[in-house]
Amino acid sequence: MRISDKKQISYSHKQMKDPENESSNYSKVNILIVYATRYGATTGTAEEIAKGLTKEGFHVKIVDVKREKVRNIAEYELVIVGSGIQIDRWTKEAERFLKKFGQKLKQKKVALFVSSGAQALDEYEGDPEKISRARRKYLEEKVAKYELHPISMRVFGGVWDFHKMPWWSKKAMTELRLTLEAANIKETRSGVYDTRNWEDIREWTRELAKSIENGGEMK
Ligand SMILES: Cc1cc2nc3c(=O)[nH]c(=O)nc-3n(C[C@H](O)[C@H](O)[C@H](O)COP(=O)(O)O)c2cc1C
Repeated sequence: MRISDKKQISYSHKQMKDPENESSNYSKVNILIVYATRYGATTGTAEEIAKGLTKEGFHVKIVDVKREKVRNIAEYELVIVGSGIQIDRWTKEAERFLKKFGQKLKQKKVALFVSSGAQALDEYEGDPEKISRARRKYLEEKVAKYELHPISMRVFGGVWDFHKMPWWSKKAMTELRLTLEAANIKETRSGVYDTRNWEDIREWTRELAKSIENGGEMK
């Protein structure tokens, strides 16, 4: 199939509408979700996005780049890249993916997301400077670095898992736990504070689905 034919499919899916099976409309639109995680939050978020897009009828491939290499992205019309954040940094594997496919991604629809444990605290504090700093540092700087033009990007919540902390972070994390408690962020299970907002993730997924319907423009 030529790329131009594939474009035709994504832009003209309305003509292909099958009233018997609403979800089959987008079945030929391929979406790649590439992600890397340190503590697992990004896996769950990426899987939720994949589930939502699959439900909408898209053909979704999801790849954990710590486990599997991506060799080619030619067949995908939308590439979603996600990473966990640690000390303001993406995982090196997700960053490597951006570097490796930077030129190709410039010609594609791209969407980015990160899992940020600090997001819930920033929102609790309600400091707009902190909230916009996270977006700037974790997303906008990455977009500028690789000269991407994403249709959308989002900072999602993350997971503070006190069973998985690196040894060098223990002292800071002990203090952080008090800050989480003071911010009324509750343990979701013993030693774990999962701050992901699933409705937020689903809402973004629905917006992405709609944007493909509109030829790649997000409102
Ligand atoms: C040592 C350490 C440093 C962290 N630094 C940051 C940070 O700079 N900004 C942030 O938003 N979250 C930070 N976090 C929280 C992570 O973003 C959170 O654990 C998230 O779930 C990471 O994504 P992952 O679970 O997919 O690896 C940090 C967590 C740890 C353990």
